[in-house]
Amino acid sequence: MILVTGGAGFIGANFILDWLAAGDEAVVNLDKLTYAGNLDNLRTLREDERHVFVAGDIGDRGLVEALLREHRPRAIVNFAAESHVDRSIHGPAEFVQTNVVGTFNLLESVRTYWTRLPADEQAAFRFLHVSTDEVYGSLDPTAPAFTETTPYAPNSPYSASKAASDHLVRAYHHTYGLPVLTTNCSNNYGPLQFPEKLIPLVIHNALAGKPLPIYGDGSNVRDWLYVSDHCSAIRRVLKAGQAGEVYNIGGCNEKTNLDVVKTLCAILDELHPGSPVTPHARLITFVKDRPGHDRRYAIDAGKIERELGWTPSETFESGIRKTVAWYLANQDWVAHLTSGEYCNWVSRNYADHQA
Ligand code: NAD
Ligand code: TYD
Repeated sequence: MILVTGGAGFIGANFILDWLAAGDEAVVNLDKLTYAGNLDNLRTLREDERHVFVAGDIGDRGLVEALLREHRPRAIVNFAAESHVDRSIHGPAEFVQTNVVGTFNLLESVRTYWTRLPADEQAAFRFLHVSTDEVYGSLDPTAPAFTETTPYAPNSPYSASKAASDHLVRAYHHTYGLPVLTTNCSNNYGPLQFPEKLIPLVIHNALAGKPLPIYGDGSNVRDWLYVSDHCSAIRRVLKAGQAGEVYNIGGCNEKTNLDVVKTLCAILDELHPGSPVTPHARLITFVKDRPGHDRRYAIDAGKIERELGWTPSETFESGIRKTVAWYLANQDWVAHLTSGEYCNWVSRNYADHQA
C-alpha cells in the first residue's frame, strides 16, 4: 500500500479518488483536517476498505512511525501543507510549522522506517514530495519558462516554506540516500478546490451576485493545470521517475487572471443564466494588489514529457468547462464550507484589498 498525506485536501483527495479508480492498491490517508481538509471529499470511499483514514499531523513522529510500522507502505506521497499564499501573508507561522518543521519530522520518521527495511524494499521505496512552481519566483513577461534547474527565488511565506521543504527532501537523498522524488507543479484547478483560491472563489461569488475581486490590474499570469492531469503526472513519476530527480509539471496554459475570470463569466452566462447579476462580467471588481504579488509563473514540462512520456489530457478550455459544471452540480459541497471560519477569512483578507 501507499501512504498519502494531506489526502482530504483538494489535490490529495482527487489523487486518492483517481488512484483507487485506476487500481486496487490500498491507501492510508494521514490528514490533520485543517480548514482545508474535508472528509466529505472522500465520501464515496466511506465503505471502501482500500482507503484507511487517519486524523493526524505529519509532524507527529510517534503517530507517523507507528503508522509506518503497522502498514509498511512501499511509497509515500506528501501533499500535506498549508497552501494558500494570501493566508501565508496573514499568518506565516503555520506555514513554517507544517511545511518546514512538519516535512522535516515526516522525513525523520520515514528515514527511521526506511533504514530498517530489507535491501530490496529499500531500493523499491519512494518518497514523493509534491511541490509548487512558486519556489522559482516570478518571471518577466518574455522570460523562458521555469525548468528543473531554474534557481529558487521564493517571494511569499508560502513559497519560501515550500522551498525549504524541497531543500530538506533533496538533502535527505543526498545525505542519507532516501529515494525521493520531487514534483513542482503549476496552479491547479478542478473539482474539490476550496473556495479561497481564485477559480472556485470567482464561481462562488458569481453565483451569489457578489463582486469578483481581481488583485491589481489582473495582468498577473499563471500556468493552469487541470487537477486530474496533475494526479496522472504524480502517478507517472511515482512509477517511473528516477530517485533523486525533480520533475516540473504544467499544462502550457498561461493566462492572465483577467482572462481566467472573463472565461469563467462567459461559461456561467451560458450554463447559469439565472444568477442574480448577469452578464456575470458586470461583477468584475479591481481591488488593491496582493503584497509581493508574483507577476508570472510558467512551467517548462519538457523533462517529464521526454523522460516519462507524460502529457496533460485536458486543454484549459475543456478543463475549465468541467470545473464550472462540477461547481454548479455541487453547490451543497461549497455551501458546507462557506460559513464560520470561511466568512471570517473572507472579511479579513478582502478588507486588506480595499483601495
Ligand atoms: P489544500 O490546502 O487543499 O490541502 C492541504 C491538505 O493538507 C488539507 O487536507 C489539510 O488538512 C492537510 N494538512 C495541512 N497541514 C497538515 C499537517 N500538518 N499534517 C497533515 N495534514 C495536513 O492544498 P492543495 O491545493 O490540495 O495542495 C496540496 C499540495 O500540492 C501542497 O503541498 C501544495 O503546496 C501543492 N501544490 C498545490 C498547487 C495548487 O494549485 N493547489 C499547485 C502545486 C503544488
Ligand atoms: P490563487 O488561487 O490564490 O493562487 P496563487 O496565488 O498560488 O497563484 O491566485 C491565483 C491568482 O489570482 C494570483 O495571481 C492571485 C489572483 N487572485 C485574485 O486576483 N483575486 C482573488 O480573490 C484571489 C484569491 C486570487
